[in-house]
Amino acid sequence: MPGAKRAKNEFGGPWTEIKLDAVTDYLQFYQGALKNMGFETWYIDAFAGTGDRHAKVIKGGLLEAQPIEEGEEVLDGSARKALRINPPFTHYWFAEAHKGRQAQLAKLRTEFDQNITIYPGDANTGLRDLFGSRPWSDGPTKSKQRAVVFLDPFGMSVSFETLEVLAATKRVDVWYLFPRAATIQQLPHKHSALDHTKRGSLERIFGCADWDERFYAAQPAQGDFFGGTNSKDKIRLAKGDEIAAFARERFGSIFCYVSKPLPLLVNGNDFFELYCMSNNPRAIHLIEKGVKHVLKNYTPASRRTFGH
Ligand SMILES: C[S@@+](CC[C@H](N)C(=O)[O-])C[C@H]1O[C@@H](n2cnc3c(N)ncnc32)[C@H](O)[C@@H]1O
Repeated sequence: MPGAKRAKNEFGGPWTEIKLDAVTDYLQFYQGALKNMGFETWYIDAFAGTGDRHAKVIKGGLLEAQPIEEGEEVLDGSARKALRINPPFTHYWFAEAHKGRQAQLAKLRTEFDQNITIYPGDANTGLRDLFGSRPWSDGPTKSKQRAVVFLDPFGMSVSFETLEVLAATKRVDVWYLFPRAATIQQLPHKHSALDHTKRGSLERIFGCADWDERFYAAQPAQGDFFGGTNSKDKIRLAKGDEIAAFARERFGSIFCYVSKPLPLLVNGNDFFELYCMSNNPRAIHLIEKGVKHVLKNYTPASRRTFGH
């Protein structure tokens, strides 16, 4: 059935498992820590997928005395992993833009007897609507809702405005898979190659245009012994680490807590950075405790060089 094939959620590699395990460990910590505090807890997965993850695996080889062949394994995706947390969250809210994947997600309702809402559309719009309506719109002092929000996009789909919406709640912990490599890819060596589309994606992800001045500078004019510059021909002087540091600085401008990132490598290259962020000053101590445990457990593994 072609529809069923399209709904399959094929993505990632070993780094994906690290990402999902890291977030799941935090969810377990969170539910344990908050269980007797009288809060209504929400798990919000804004790029939810299907609940499954179809991963390629290599079977056989010398140790198994079998010919090497490629197979497929069905593993738990983020939504299903979250639904298995005990004690469960009070609410599960999933956004998914793909129709076939929405249908797969809906099947989780028959498997898990939990309060599941599926938002069929764009995550940025869905989150704005959710936090702009009751009970969330009642504000932090009046209501007992608390949430963990997982932002796990394929690329640069999370707008900075969405992060601002989350920060304004003052009571959600956000796990954000920042697409480091995709962002750097939008920044060509020559300033003149920065087209409208690239600028648009960078302004959307950083929520400002300051990156231009920070990353690009005029290069010294050739043969100019007096230190003059050829201002027409700017080049990118900022390297990957400076660009990633700028992103972290931007997150820090709206969240009072931004964790060190968990680096996720693909073929030895820094592809993604997984951050935990919160704008709830009273919860920082507890959040730090949970994040410290996650970073300690997963940073060595995340630093290993993986293939696809
Ligand atoms: C990396 S996958 C998420 C995987 C999921 N966290 C899991 O572990 O199974 C990204 C998902 O986001 C969906 N998606 C892409 N753009 C979206 C958007 N703007 N709003 C909501 N969902 C989107 C894709 O269809 C895809 O299922």
